[in-house]
Amino acid sequence: MLTEIEAARTAALASIAAAGSADDLRRLDTELLGKKGALAGLKAGLGRLATVDEKKAAGAVLNDAVASVEAALAERLALLAREERNLQLAAEAIDLTEHFRPSSRGRAHIVTQAWQRLEDVFVGLGFQVAEGPEVETDWYNFEALNMPPSHPARSMHDTFYIDHGAPGSTVLRTHTSPVQIRVMQELEPPIYMVMPGRVFRNETTDSTHLAVFHQIEGLVIDRGITLADLAGTIEAFTKAFFGEGFGSRLRPSYFPFTEPSAEFDIRTPDGSWLELGGCGMVHPNVLRAGGLDPEEWSGFAFGFGIDRMAKERHGVGDVREMYTNDLRFIEQF
Ligand code: FA5
Repeated sequence: MLTEIEAARTAALASIAAAGSADDLRRLDTELLGKKGALAGLKAGLGRLATVDEKKAAGAVLNDAVASVEAALAERLALLAREERNLQLAAEAIDLTEHFRPSSRGRAHIVTQAWQRLEDVFVGLGFQVAEGPEVETDWYNFEALNMPPSHPARSMHDTFYIDHGAPGSTVLRTHTSPVQIRVMQELEPPIYMVMPGRVFRNETTDSTHLAVFHQIEGLVIDRGITLADLAGTIEAFTKAFFGEGFGSRLRPSYFPFTEPSAEFDIRTPDGSWLELGGCGMVHPNVLRAGGLDPEEWSGFAFGFGIDRMAKERHGVGDVREMYTNDLRFIEQF
């Protein structure tokens, strides 16, 4: 009997050691320790032993065998469950260190890149950033900027009209200058603000003209602001944005909303001049439209094209290239 118990224990332990999965072990549990198992059969056979002492001795060995089989089952089950969990974790792991080849990585459009850099540079010079609506009223886009309905300067801004309100009262803004008025109406001076955004003109497109393009507006309102502050700010911006080798100049010009007005150009290191945008001292009528007293406050404003700036900066021949979504072009920036 004792040798049979020992044989049953050895066989049970061998099959536990050979089990390859937690499921196999669960099956073995019923097979080895269930009613039909070899150990249960031996237990039933104890009754046939001749003496009480023999029964006691064999019973003790049998209990020990059952206990060791149970312990082996539990131990191997824990081991296999751990291994299976590790395999599952490895299979489902996300590689957080994974990175893509630079060529397959998305990035901002060159106009967005220029826009963000412009904001960074102006914030570095102490300006804040504001945005206004792309759909404007005629009043904000023209009248408040000293361009009444019959003003000849309106012909330079051929406009897209929106079918809303009285005919001709709602437009797609033709420049970012209307945001000057909104900022003056909302904030108390001193104001040091840049206002980037998308603008629209009913233009025939060519290598330097788009019908949908981007401008950045600047507005400074404080006490005792002069043209010298405007020239100094343009110069500081030029050096911060383009680099120390660049310079700037103002050329007399005309805008209805500034007086005096100027175009500003930048000088590239090879000595050539590049026209960037318009600027000037904010016209008293514009200060009044913004709710400010021209006797108390003065200021300057400037505005220039972001698309044209990006075109020059990257040596792009035709500004329309930036919007054809040709990957061979886009991937270069
Ligand atoms: C204006 O729009 C004035 N609001 C600028 C200004 C602001 C003057 C504040 C004074 C004070 P202008 O129409 O020149 O000005 O346009 C300014 C810049 O926008 C141009 O220098 C150019 O860089 C860009 N721009 C104008 N039209 C187009 C176009 N069709 N496509 C691409 N860029 C354009």
